[in-house]
Amino acid sequence: RGRTPLIAGNWKMNLDHLQAVAFVQKLHWALKDAKHEDGTVEVAVFPPFTDIRTVQTLIDADKIPFSLGGQDLSAQDSGAYTGEISGAFLKKLDCGYVIIGHSERRQYHAESDEVVASKVQAALRHDLAPVICVGETLEQREESGPTAVSVAQLRTAVEGVPAGADIVVAYEPVWAIGTGEVASPGQAQEVCAALRAVIAEKMGEDAAARTRVLYGGSVKSANIASFMREPDVDGALVGGASLLVDEFAAIIRFQK
Ligand code: G3H
Repeated sequence: RGRTPLIAGNWKMNLDHLQAVAFVQKLHWALKDAKHEDGTVEVAVFPPFTDIRTVQTLIDADKIPFSLGGQDLSAQDSGAYTGEISGAFLKKLDCGYVIIGHSERRQYHAESDEVVASKVQAALRHDLAPVICVGETLEQREESGPTAVSVAQLRTAVEGVPAGADIVVAYEPVWAIGTGEVASPGQAQEVCAALRAVIAEKMGEDAAARTRVLYGGSVKSANIASFMREPDVDGALVGGASLLVDEFAAIIRFQK
């Protein structure tokens, strides 16, 4: 896939399977003749698990050029793990991606860097590209600077990941998620460049050159272009604005 810009919509715990149908259809119509039709931009949606089958069917039936992903997966492949979802199940539903280590998982489900690393391995076992999320809180930024936390999180997450693996990295400063407070393009670039350097160190220069690093945190149509102009920002992981058809369509139609 190289570094084709990726605009990813993380629905979080929003839209039931009926709302998902209406949303995907409206978004598809709003995007007629947009860049994603010719592959210049890749659009991915990350619905709740219970919507994935519905969205897969719709994408397939209407030939909608959206990629599909899960918001999380189990570190295990199968067995007595009540409530967990295997990467194998996501793959069967044509998911190409899975978000791993989102700050909401780290915060509300106590996911450590080691858990994140084992989920990255699980994703790769099932041929899913992990979207590895990293980012610092405001206190951590004040204590250790802008890059240290994200760099340490990514180093652990990609330990043992082979050079040829297809991964995506998302820099999401916790203080900018759902707050309306957005990192400056310069702040995003600084951390995204540091994360690309981690990929170079752990997986080699070729991997660093072809891996997409996204920015996430209060991305909107009004600020997407400023991020996309930065050399190490290859797209966005969008939360709130990905639930608004016209707004998300405008983000996808960004012009540098
Ligand atoms: O996964 C998406 C991020 O958490 C960003 O969310 O765009 O609502 O700030 P947000």
